[in-house]
Amino acid sequence: MRKPLIAANWKMHMNTGETREFLQAFLPQVEGVTDVEIVIAPPFTSIAEAARLMKDSNVRLAGQNLYWEEKGAFTGEISPLMLTDLGCTYVIIGHSERRQYFGETDETVNRRIRAALAAGLKPILCIGETLQQREAGETFNVLRRQVRDGLNGMEAEDLVIAYEPVWAIGTGKTATPEMAQEAHAFIREELGALYGEKAGSVRILYGGSVKPENVASLMAERDVDGGLVGGASLKPDSFARIVRFREQN
Ligand code: 13P
Repeated sequence: MRKPLIAANWKMHMNTGETREFLQAFLPQVEGVTDVEIVIAPPFTSIAEAARLMKDSNVRLAGQNLYWEEKGAFTGEISPLMLTDLGCTYVIIGHSERRQYFGETDETVNRRIRAALAAGLKPILCIGETLQQREAGETFNVLRRQVRDGLNGMEAEDLVIAYEPVWAIGTGKTATPEMAQEAHAFIREELGALYGEKAGSVRILYGGSVKPENVASLMAERDVDGGLVGGASLKPDSFARIVRFREQN
């Protein structure tokens, strides 16, 4: 059984004060939730404050990125050990915004995933096609390449995949549950080719305009094991409703 995972990607939002306010309102609303794993990825500058407030809670911390070296002369970068030091257990890798604006490639994604695993962090590998690629019928080829190259040379590990169609991110356009299921089933097939039966335990999250209103129908699909939530994770009530998606049925 794959335990659902609902993760907040705060992107470049939420300073320390906002983080504090959010958690003071959010944590009581999800207290006692044990059937869903809850993860929040604050910007680096708010992780320490979030860690302080989330101590002893049922919410886990994630980084939004990392660099693959442990330490050294890499101005502006954050190492896997710095994230574990702050109490992070997960790290988002290869988000489409990093691929689009910061030159991330499948090869650098691969290096980051290896470094994360070596440090004991669970990577959330983000993949997904652009609108142009979807319209050109390239979706499955893109997903296959991102999975195979991103995971190149790796054993089946404690890994999470996030399928985030780029055209659904921040646009209000959600993939239909059927579209998400089709992509997730394809990704699981690809994982099966790489890892055999172990692919059945990898959680595949959907990301792209997940909201309290659409989360339950997405989660009803067989291969949708959770969500990676941007905009709707910035308000405590909205993110808590997403986490408690089972209660909306
Ligand atoms: P939105 O939920 O704002 O569409 O963002 C999705 C996302 O990119 C999560 O990583």
